[in-house]
Amino acid sequence: MSKRQIKLGAMIHGVGHGWGEWRHPDALADASVNFGFYKQQALLAEGAKFDFAFIADSLHIHAKSSPHYLNRFEPLTILSALAAVTEHIGLVATVTVSYTEPFQVARQFASLDHISGGRAGWNVVTSWLSGTADNFGKAEHPPHAVRYRIAREHVDVVKGLWDSWEDDAFTRDKQSGEFFDPEKLHSLNHQGEFFKVKGPLNIQRSRQGQPLIFQAGTSEDGRNFAAQNADAIFVSPESFSEARSYYQDLKQRAARHGRNPDELFILPGIRPIVGRDAEEVEQRYQQAVELVSIEDAIVALGRPFNDYDFSGHALDAPFPDLGDLGSNSHKGSSDQIKQQAREHGLTLREVALRFSRPRRDFVGTPEQVANAVQDWFEDGAADGFIINSLLPDGLQYFTERVVPLLQARGLVREDYQGQTLRDNFGLAVPTNRNTLNRSQGAVA
Ligand SMILES: Cc1cc2nc3c(=O)[nH]c(=O)nc-3n(C[C@H](O)[C@H](O)[C@H](O)COP(=O)(O)O)c2cc1C
Repeated sequence: MSKRQIKLGAMIHGVGHGWGEWRHPDALADASVNFGFYKQQALLAEGAKFDFAFIADSLHIHAKSSPHYLNRFEPLTILSALAAVTEHIGLVATVTVSYTEPFQVARQFASLDHISGGRAGWNVVTSWLSGTADNFGKAEHPPHAVRYRIAREHVDVVKGLWDSWEDDAFTRDKQSGEFFDPEKLHSLNHQGEFFKVKGPLNIQRSRQGQPLIFQAGTSEDGRNFAAQNADAIFVSPESFSEARSYYQDLKQRAARHGRNPDELFILPGIRPIVGRDAEEVEQRYQQAVELVSIEDAIVALGRPFNDYDFSGHALDAPFPDLGDLGSNSHKGSSDQIKQQAREHGLTLREVALRFSRPRRDFVGTPEQVANAVQDWFEDGAADGFIINSLLPDGLQYFTERVVPLLQARGLVREDYQGQTLRDNFGLAVPTNRNTLNRSQGAVA
């Protein structure tokens, strides 16, 4: 078996994460709805032999949402288009479990998986903004713990539906007229707490068997769900030591669930800023810092607290006591913010800027950034990274300057070895559960 290498994903995020990135002189102000931009970014990532491209999502906006959230592509649609212009890179989309039906999700990802030749991945999220309920005619947004119960059942059903057809079920025998072998078609007949789904699904498995499952919850429930169900986990650590503690925790939880911890990939989200030399590094870092105004940072800080409006609090007073606020929303992130404000005695202004401004961990010359990536990987804080570009040419700087150094060190691949997202991650195709049952003589 070849040496384990760093996994790399590119988060393609239109005009950017924050409120000000679209105003950079070189930014495409319509990038979030510009197919040319998405294609160019996907090809850059594929040219650098990245494992996957990732499209994030959520389903509720208001007038103060960030520019990218206000006006952007639906993930499965844009990834289907990118599937047609790429060949090897994995295509990972966020889809929520709280406002979808498993049948539909199973079908959509199976379709993307076929269109792309086995490159689909599903980032399972539970949706933390309560306003989402108003867009789906729901009386209330499910509480945090319920959302994770829904997630468990939803993912189980989707995976079950993906196995509706055994791999050789479609005989397509023109001579006899047999299109499929009826013994190899299976209904799910699921009846659970939240979903009732008979099946079967109206599409066969792809060459990778099933799409990969990604997840990003950092709360207790989120971590348990991920450790049990995910192939890869996005985390958002504040520091190397926090990343290492996530890493150890998640690997231990995976082992407790009877899984091989090496088959669960921990991928911190990082925002590298690369410059040719110290002077350019500082200049590019300052450019990124200037794109974050305190007004925008205050709005951004409200997001993990269910879009709480912080503008009523004094900026330079100690961070306010928010009680339970956030625990039914983006629990992992809001807990982390409260804890850090308390630990370091920060003001609201300091917390907001700390939350929105780029951190220094992956800011430097190509050599320095490559060293940081290598250190996190080798010192047990990451199996790979999801790269979130801050400046319009951020991904290009990373792929053209940092990736070749990592390749020269043997830390990332120089070329693709396989065809599917599973191949990129070195994960085996799962045997269809119905085939397995048959081979064990227990077909239902
Ligand atoms: C790299 C990364 C990408 C994420 N992408 C999304 C996303 O597309 N949509 C979303 O609702 N949440 C996204 N999240 C947030 C997590 O899904 C979030 O932790 C979850 O919604 C709340 O889980 P928790 O309360 O268990 O922490 C992302 C997080 C990270 C670190």
